Amino acid sequence: MSQQGSYQIKTIASNVEKEIDRLKGQVELFWDKELKHYIEFGLRDGISIVELGAGPGFVTEKIAEKFPNTKITAVEIEPLLVEYARKNLSLKGITQCEVIEGSIMDTGLEDNKYDLAITRLVLEHLPDPVNAVREVYRILKPGGRAIFVDNDFEMHIMTNPHIPELRDLYDAYCQSRYQEGGNPKIGRELPNILKNGGFTKVDFEIISAHSDIVGEELFSRSEGIGIPTKLVQDGFLSSKMLGKISISWRNMLKAEKHSIVRQLYMGIGEKVL
Ligand SMILES: C[S@@+](CC[C@H](N)C(=O)[O-])C[C@H]1O[C@@H](n2cnc3c(N)ncnc32)[C@H](O)[C@@H]1O
Repeated sequence: MSQQGSYQIKTIASNVEKEIDRLKGQVELFWDKELKHYIEFGLRDGISIVELGAGPGFVTEKIAEKFPNTKITAVEIEPLLVEYARKNLSLKGITQCEVIEGSIMDTGLEDNKYDLAITRLVLEHLPDPVNAVREVYRILKPGGRAIFVDNDFEMHIMTNPHIPELRDLYDAYCQSRYQEGGNPKIGRELPNILKNGGFTKVDFEIISAHSDIVGEELFSRSEGIGIPTKLVQDGFLSSKMLGKISISWRNMLKAEKHSIVRQLYMGIGEKVL
C-alpha cells in the first residue's frame, strides 16, 4: 500500500522511537479535554468504533481501557506502526481491538458499520482530505458520528514570555508539510471539508491545553526536538535559528510567571440519512 502525504514516521523526525514517544506525549497533553468532547459527541461503552490513522494506538488504548465493552477497529497504513500498536495493546492485555493495515482513502471495511469514527492528526497530512472524509462517512452507521481532530499551525504553541522565533519554526514546519502534500493549517477548514465529504450536520470545537493545568513537561515532550532537527537537516530551518529557539525556550521556562498554551481543532459530523 503506498502512503502519500506529509506524515511518514520514518522520515518526519530524526528518530522513530522518539517520534513514537512524542505522539504518546501529544495524546497525554490533550487527553482529559479530548475525552470530554468524545463523550459529548457519542463515545460510550458498548459501541463500535473505528479509528483511522491510529499510529502507535495510544488513543485506541485509552478508549479501550476506559470503555472495556467497546469494539475498536484501528486502521493504520504504516506496517511498523501496525506492529507496534498490536504489540502494545496485547502487552496491556487489551483484547477488544483489531488493528488492520490499510488506508483511510479506501479502508475495505463494510458500509454502515460503526457508531463512531475518530481520525486524529491525519487529515492535515493527506493530499485529498475530502475523499478521506467520504470514506469515513461510508463506513459509519446512519446516526453515527465522526470526529476529526487536527492542528492549525497559524495558532500553534503560544508562550508567556512570548518567543517570537517560534514563528520561524512553525513557518519552516508548514513549508515542509505543504511541499509533501499536507495542509498544516487545515484546522479552520474542517467544517467545510466535512460538508464536502458528505456530512450535513456538522459541528466545530477548539480544545486547549495549558501548562498551568497539565504541567509543562508534556508540552516539551509533545513538541520534542526530532522534527525541528529534521527541518534543519532538510534545509527548511537554519541551525542558528534552532539554537536561538532552544535558548529562548529554556529562558521562557525559567521565567517566574511562564505559561504555554496549545490548541487542537475538532470537526464533528453526523451521518443523517
Ligand atoms: C500524526 S500521526 C497521528 C497518529 C494518531 N492518530 C495519534 O493521534 O497519535 C498520523 C498517522 O496517520 C497515518 N496515516 C497517514 N496517511 C494515512 C492513510 N492514508 N491511511 C491511514 N493512516 C495514515 C500515519 O502513518 C500516522 O500513523
